[in-house]
Amino acid sequence: MHLSPTLNVDSIRCTLATKVLGRRIDLFEQLSSTNLEATALGESGVEHGTVVIADRQTAGRGRLARTWFSPGGANVYCSLVLRANLPVNRMPEWLSWLPLITALAASEAVESVTSAPVSLKWPNDLLMSGRKVGGVLCENIQASRSGPFQVIGIGINVNMAPEDFPSELRASATSLWNETHTVVDRNRLMAQLLLELEQCIEELAGHGPQQLALAYQRRCSTIGRKVRASLATGVELTGYAESIGQDGSLRISTDPGAHRDRAVDLRAADIVHLRS
Ligand code: BTN
Repeated sequence: MHLSPTLNVDSIRCTLATKVLGRRIDLFEQLSSTNLEATALGESGVEHGTVVIADRQTAGRGRLARTWFSPGGANVYCSLVLRANLPVNRMPEWLSWLPLITALAASEAVESVTSAPVSLKWPNDLLMSGRKVGGVLCENIQASRSGPFQVIGIGINVNMAPEDFPSELRASATSLWNETHTVVDRNRLMAQLLLELEQCIEELAGHGPQQLALAYQRRCSTIGRKVRASLATGVELTGYAESIGQDGSLRISTDPGAHRDRAVDLRAADIVHLRS
């Protein structure tokens, strides 16, 4: 573990240039999960853009019911409460794109702070040198007295050394420190993350996903790769990732050698990049 500057709300505010995101920031030394705390706050009616940050999580949650390794003193674990002010007919588009644009914003924040390249593995993994440096967990909370809202949770491995990862993650995970050999100030990274997120959220709400989809595709290292997709049903597919659809789905051709390719649009899956 490389000694990180302590997380501190005043230090985040020093460089925070957002209009709405982060008007309220709740910072904790330890939480079970920032997504759980943000959900509880959302249910109690907190305003759009409220941010929950923890230095450490005891039960960090990942996608597909996985856990998220969350030791203290090194990384970013944060969640935001969003209340979309959109007509009902635009909600499916908002909900489909939110996880993807959150990953896009996080990748832009990391690149801006470290100057090191970040790519995206569909739908929302942040990769550096082909290894996972961050992830996004979005949850849509419907049944709430305060009205429906979304929680977007972001985890970024920042100042962890290779030996800090549990052995089962060492081959597949990395951190900003691993990639750049520079200690990153998490306060500065948080401020940049909120700014990039605000810009992406404004673009999605104001103009729809077209421009964001282009930016996402440019960063997405899944496109053009041979992939294995594991679906929630247990089915596994192998094919070539072709494109991102209007709804954020991943189109893969499962039988590229056949007379007519068999294309499948995936809304949710666990993707492994295979050697092409
Ligand atoms: C993934 O599986 O890739 C998503 C990981 C998301 C982890 C973050 S850390 C902050 C927030 N709180 C959680 O419990 N999970 C998300």
